[in-house]
Amino acid sequence: MSSVTQLLKQAQDEIVAADNQASLDKVRVKYLGKKGSLTSYLKELGSLPSDKRAEAGKAINDAKNSLMSEIKLRQSELQADSIASKLLLDKLDVSLPGRGQKPGRVHPITRTLQRITDIFTSAGFETRIGPEIEDDYYNFTALNIPENHPARAMHDTFYLESGELLRTHTSPVQIRAMQNEGAPIRLIAPGRVYRCDSDLTHTPMFTQIEGLAVGADISFANLKAVLYEFVSNFFEREIELRFRPAYFPFTEPSAEVDIRAESGEWLEILGCGMVHPNVLRNVDIDSEKFRGYAFGMGVDRLAMLRYGVDDLRLFFENDLPFLAQFS
Ligand code: PHE
Repeated sequence: MSSVTQLLKQAQDEIVAADNQASLDKVRVKYLGKKGSLTSYLKELGSLPSDKRAEAGKAINDAKNSLMSEIKLRQSELQADSIASKLLLDKLDVSLPGRGQKPGRVHPITRTLQRITDIFTSAGFETRIGPEIEDDYYNFTALNIPENHPARAMHDTFYLESGELLRTHTSPVQIRAMQNEGAPIRLIAPGRVYRCDSDLTHTPMFTQIEGLAVGADISFANLKAVLYEFVSNFFEREIELRFRPAYFPFTEPSAEVDIRAESGEWLEILGCGMVHPNVLRNVDIDSEKFRGYAFGMGVDRLAMLRYGVDDLRLFFENDLPFLAQFS
């Protein structure tokens, strides 16, 4: 009898000490399992003298019952504890303010393009868009760059399997527009162009804006005036321009234009010239009656200057902290 009492006391201590489901289970098996200590007491009942059996059996059964209910109690305590600690972990503070959604921003190149387009639109130029996949005729031949002309090699062209190519400049839009609309005409053509080239100031894809004006008395002086006006509007200050004689097959005479940066440095921003009579002839415009000027500007270069960005590639890496600076 006293050993049952002792066993019960020991088991009760272990139940209280069990701090998780697994150790509580161990206690249960230890005392009440098939080979548990209380169970083996029950098995030994038969070896007791018959007058002691009833009393001993009752004591063992009472002990067993009280252990079972204490285990049950402890089990529900443990369950409640684990729910409480889970709740603590998953706590949701519904009164916290939301994280909010930051508005998107217009890409700096798009902003620059928009700004350039607005300036020319207010000066009476209309916008024309041409395809980025071009053929040889529009990108080269019609622009007075016949096959085997060395100027083709200057363009680092991406050719497609179809025999078409990614346009290397926006000048083919001049041809398409003059073919469709004839003269007089005054347009700008913004868009992406492609060359197999990559370093600090060159990316395989970049952005140009083409300008073209054809009319009865268009002169190089008009070209200069338009460019001066544009550049000082764009940078919002008086800007010095430098026209350097240059060569393009589709203009004659031709020039490359530099602007004087605030640092005093000269930086090239565009190529231009008077439309070559052969180009007018290719689109059936009478080159005796009409003359024109054309220019092609590097939009990315203008964006770099305006925003003080010194690596062109930054514009195309989609780095959000970089892009977030332009608002
Ligand atoms: N298409 C020339 C280039 O990409 C630029 C240009 C356009 C020059 C129009 C003259 C006239 O380099």
